[in-house]
Amino acid sequence: MCGIVGYVGDKPALPILMDKLQMLTYRGYDSAGVAVSENGHFYVEKTKGRVSDLAAVIEPDRATGSIGLGHTRWATHGEPSTANAHPHLDCTGRLAVVQNGIVENFWELKQELIEKGHHFKSETDTEVIAHLIEEYYDGNITTAVNLAMQRMVGSMALLVVHKDEEDRLIAAKMDSPPLIIGFGRGENHVASDIPALLRYTNRIYPLEDGEIATIKRDDVIITNFKEPNTPRLYDRKVMVVTWSTEVAQKEGYENFMLKEIHEQPETVDATLRGRLPEHGDGPVRIPELNLTPEEVQRLERLTFVACGTAYHACLVAKYLFEQALRIPVTVDVGSEYRYRKPMLGKNEMLVAISQSGETADTIASMREGMEQGAKVLAITNVLGSSIARLADGVLYTRAGPEMAVASTKAFVGQLIGVHLLLQYIAQYRPIAPEMRDQIIALRPHLWRLPAQIRHILADTTQIQTIAQKISTKDACFFIGRNMDEPLAREGALKLKEISYIHSQGYAAGELKHGTLALLDEGVPVIALATQGSVYDKMVSNVQEVLARHAWAVGVVQEGDQRLSSLVGRENIIEIPKTHDWVAPILTSVPMQLLSYYGAYALGRDIDQPRNLAKSVTVE
Ligand code: G6P
Repeated sequence: MCGIVGYVGDKPALPILMDKLQMLTYRGYDSAGVAVSENGHFYVEKTKGRVSDLAAVIEPDRATGSIGLGHTRWATHGEPSTANAHPHLDCTGRLAVVQNGIVENFWELKQELIEKGHHFKSETDTEVIAHLIEEYYDGNITTAVNLAMQRMVGSMALLVVHKDEEDRLIAAKMDSPPLIIGFGRGENHVASDIPALLRYTNRIYPLEDGEIATIKRDDVIITNFKEPNTPRLYDRKVMVVTWSTEVAQKEGYENFMLKEIHEQPETVDATLRGRLPEHGDGPVRIPELNLTPEEVQRLERLTFVACGTAYHACLVAKYLFEQALRIPVTVDVGSEYRYRKPMLGKNEMLVAISQSGETADTIASMREGMEQGAKVLAITNVLGSSIARLADGVLYTRAGPEMAVASTKAFVGQLIGVHLLLQYIAQYRPIAPEMRDQIIALRPHLWRLPAQIRHILADTTQIQTIAQKISTKDACFFIGRNMDEPLAREGALKLKEISYIHSQGYAAGELKHGTLALLDEGVPVIALATQGSVYDKMVSNVQEVLARHAWAVGVVQEGDQRLSSLVGRENIIEIPKTHDWVAPILTSVPMQLLSYYGAYALGRDIDQPRNLAKSVTVE
């Protein structure tokens, strides 16, 4: 994790670096730093804290150079401190390095470099890179970085600038952390993620594993340290992103999370558009999935893998695919899947779900699936991300950049992605005609979602009142059955991650196997009851909750009577009427709002909760 940025051009680098760092703070925010080179001198400033703390200590007049790099950190090696903040310099102070990732063999390299007389000032693995490049430097910084990369083991993206070659930035990538080059006019940019580049350019190139770019203001040469002597030009691979600069800003909302919650109607519409016919039973078109009718027909089992919120989208997929298609589905979190020696047959498929497309454990799980010969698909939000490039086929969720650490619109995009995959697969499977009709009948419900989400967002008064009351409690429980079960988990995750209130999501039937012991006068229990097939069972569970004098809140489809009279109208949150299989998409909105307004009432840092980061590129 961490965000890195670079600039080379004809303007003062410092304000541009600071602006780009500000856009990347969701990647890490425990310390930050910049280095700008001018006439053989470095201006280096770093500090513990956020980019805004760095802005308070920099002296722009002392740094007018037009080449530089910067970093915003989420600590892996060495505690957050000014000494451990990047950039790191070599012994001579002639080269500066910023890194995102981990050098796994840093300890061995450090011992070797210390024996050769190098002096270290920090506890980081990144400083090893600076000294290693110094060791190899012989007048050509690209060659020195190339040689250093060949000595390192790990997963990293880095940027280097050397005072003696002040016209170029060197960018290198090994394994998963992303690094994107942005092509400007008379200037070029680098950043860990696309939003940081949008103010300057929409022409990008995401570096691939093993690539080293020598970036000058009017030229970029890319080579691969894994295949030396094969320089190639970038222009064959430039991608044009259509995200506007505004979508990466807050657009008047108090924070990114609220803005992103309100963007969900567009996420749904954009993700469906051009793929799912708005009317009738016409074909579903997702060519980038790269999935043939024959492969679909042979399919014997699906495995979904993800982390965090995206894992909850996988759990919804299990309920949906098993009930609708009668295909067995296995679901795992990435960090477990990769180490549990999973078994995959040749007619099985692995689907990775990831907002960022960079989550290390998800990537490792995909590799595991590939090694076992399975077809690997991805549902992801980031064009050209590691996961998108690794997969045999991709379904992009088109949510646009998500900046708040707590995932909202990306989750809704993932659920739409799961539905699209269902619709795509259903058209090539031999299924009973009644079930086929039911799957086709989901389509108008999906297309109605943007209007229904807007309807929920138009009046959030009741949700706000309930959220404020939750914010006064020490703990909160979420329960649900069938497709409400993963949504209960997601509601609990959202609440805990931004409000810091202890919260747990359970299968409602499991209440009596332990959780009931925790219920007492006034303890909040959010009961999700949108699934008709298990509605009666949920009503019974709510009765168990009320019998312990706990405080039950019901989340129901419009028109509900029984649960509403049981818990009282003031404790009911309604979603618009829809098909039960589509309901989780609507239910996710009040889950987000409960956590948002709960955290807001407590005055939490909503976009950047403590100890968390947006993109987890380490194990
Ligand atoms: C982090 C984020 C979560 C996200 C998870 C998986 O924990 O804070 O919001 O769900 O990573 O990320 P991915 O990018 O793979 O969806």
